[in-house]
Amino acid sequence: MIEVTLIKKQMIAENIVSLVLASADGTRLPAFDPGSHIDLHIDNNTIRQYSLINSLDKGKTYEIAILREAGGRGGSIKLHDSLTPGSTVTISEPRNHFPLQECEHTVLIAGGIGITPILSMAQYLHSQGKSFELHYCARSDRSAAFLAEIQASPFAEHSRIYFDQQKQAFAPQTLAHRSDDSRLFVCGPEGFIQFISNTALAAGWAEERIHYELFKRSAPPASGLGQPFSMVINSSGDVINVAADETALDALVRSGYEIPCSCEQGVCGTCVLEILEGTPDHQDMFLTDKERQQNQHFTPCCSRALTPTLTLKL
Ligand code: FES
Repeated sequence: MIEVTLIKKQMIAENIVSLVLASADGTRLPAFDPGSHIDLHIDNNTIRQYSLINSLDKGKTYEIAILREAGGRGGSIKLHDSLTPGSTVTISEPRNHFPLQECEHTVLIAGGIGITPILSMAQYLHSQGKSFELHYCARSDRSAAFLAEIQASPFAEHSRIYFDQQKQAFAPQTLAHRSDDSRLFVCGPEGFIQFISNTALAAGWAEERIHYELFKRSAPPASGLGQPFSMVINSSGDVINVAADETALDALVRSGYEIPCSCEQGVCGTCVLEILEGTPDHQDMFLTDKERQQNQHFTPCCSRALTPTLTLKL
């Protein structure tokens, strides 16, 4: 964990605030690659994940941008309303589940606040002299974070902006297949990612060359509810019964186990636990197909069990 101080806070678009964080003890923060995020501990029970934007600063500061979600679970509103310059907060070290990959040409596509990791990627690719293009879709110019920066950037000529309210829709033909050594990175809401992924697949892109990072599911998973099952904790031998109307995460917390969690939607991977025996019923969108086949991990916030018991390494 790292203690950081908020050194700058400013509204950069409608309902989007930028926070610049520096190490509280004056040391340099760990450098990170584009696509990385941090866990931000808002209070004892609330952790949220935010993409880091300024990878080229190499750890001098961390910049994140936060969309105020009126219909959310309250974390973003707390950050918008309560944090003031000089406030100290705890964050995790950067982690990267959405890394760039070497290729001949990179297509970057952002929907709304999904611009945060995508902008970091664009800045990095430009700094390395790599071939790329950036497509940024937003509701309007007022809601588009970092719009002025992109328009004034040295890669503006490789960037296209689309505003829903001005009927400048992203055209599917934009994704006409590039060379076989191209990769596509997309970040935004679930429906946006699905649209881009489906369009790219229809245009001939190989599935393994389409990479995405989801911030939030448009519809929650089946809330992790369903058939009851049991969990055995290998370190203590405790047997924890998961009722039909509670999640495995709730059952673990009720039994006194502290499990870090953030999205509670199977998106972020914060709650992932190791499985020693049994077969999970995966409801998350975090684990890859390969990881599911390996049968070694599950997300207790939303996934359940296909076998009567799961033995957890805990
Ligand atoms: S808390 Fe995010 S995947 Fe479980």
